[in-house]
Amino acid sequence: MTVEEFFEEVITVKMTHERDAIDIIDQTLLPGTIKRITLKTREEIWEAIKKLRVRGAPAIGVTAAYAMALLASKYEAEDFEAFYGKFSEDKDYLASSRPTAVNLFWALDRMDRTAKDNKNKLINELKDILFAEAQKIRDEDVQISRNIGEIGFGILKDLKKDGQTIGIETHCNAGTLATAKYGTATAPMYIALEHGWKGSDMHVYCDETRPLLQGSRLTAFELMRSGIETTVQCDNMASILQKSGKIDVIFVGCDRVARNGDAANKIGTSGLAIIAKHYGIPFYVCAPSSTIDAGTATGAEIPIEMRDGEEITDMWYSEPMAPKGVETFNPAFDVTDHDLITGIITEKGLCQAPYEEAFKQLGII
Ligand code: MRU
Repeated sequence: MTVEEFFEEVITVKMTHERDAIDIIDQTLLPGTIKRITLKTREEIWEAIKKLRVRGAPAIGVTAAYAMALLASKYEAEDFEAFYGKFSEDKDYLASSRPTAVNLFWALDRMDRTAKDNKNKLINELKDILFAEAQKIRDEDVQISRNIGEIGFGILKDLKKDGQTIGIETHCNAGTLATAKYGTATAPMYIALEHGWKGSDMHVYCDETRPLLQGSRLTAFELMRSGIETTVQCDNMASILQKSGKIDVIFVGCDRVARNGDAANKIGTSGLAIIAKHYGIPFYVCAPSSTIDAGTATGAEIPIEMRDGEEITDMWYSEPMAPKGVETFNPAFDVTDHDLITGIITEKGLCQAPYEEAFKQLGII
């Protein structure tokens, strides 16, 4: 299978042709089952985001944008005021699905602005404008991750010695399944293939990513299907792996970046960065500029989603693997301090410390 064929096979989220439902690949069933499902009601969309059927910051943003267009298309409203009352209510409802990835709020706000900017249009025209805006958000995401990939590919080229297979570690899934096409952390690898590298020019070590296993279930699935050499290891194997000299560079995604460069990503990312600093391995965060939150000064302000402890004790086991009733601690994200990050790759350019100035220089904040 070519990479393009693979991208077609796993389109993360799209609007149905009839514009009557959102069509997603159900990521909770991967890697064993490739099954698409359709979401029609706001409750179905909320549940799909909450349960991680669709997940990854940019994909959540695209889903939220499509959701607002879809839900708005069904409003029976005579005037903008009545229309906007329903719109605000649906927006607030979807915003309550997951707290950490800023793209959710960013996409909802962008749809909200579009609605307000077009309040003088006929309601039917406004509905079409919202569909067009959601599609634009999706199409822009493809270009954004492509740009991130080109910059990341430049880093790979600089690190690769002749004839050597470059070792890359990644965490969770910041791949095509988390975006509209190339992923963010995986974009440098997919772009490398587009530039003629072979799958064997890179060897990607995917952290399994407890407790929801996005690294082994999703990233390893993606990369293997694209023909890139792939290994899966448990999260607690990161230090022996990095000490072994097999890793040349680390690319991770992110859910929200504060103005000072502190970056929230899947739980376990900050530990990886601490180990990488110890072993002198470059650690890059791949971040669409929509993930950089001008309203958040430092990582301490980023809300961290806490999830059901059952994901730790029971979820993947035929019988519980912790004593019944034990207390659990299950934060879904952690924050990597900016001084552990070699650079933040955005679609507008590579940012390095001091981050706030770098973001300003690129017009991101
Ligand atoms: O809980 P998830 O699976 O939505 O977490 C996803 C991540 O942490 C990703 O690394 C992040 O959203 C970036 S996706 C390009």
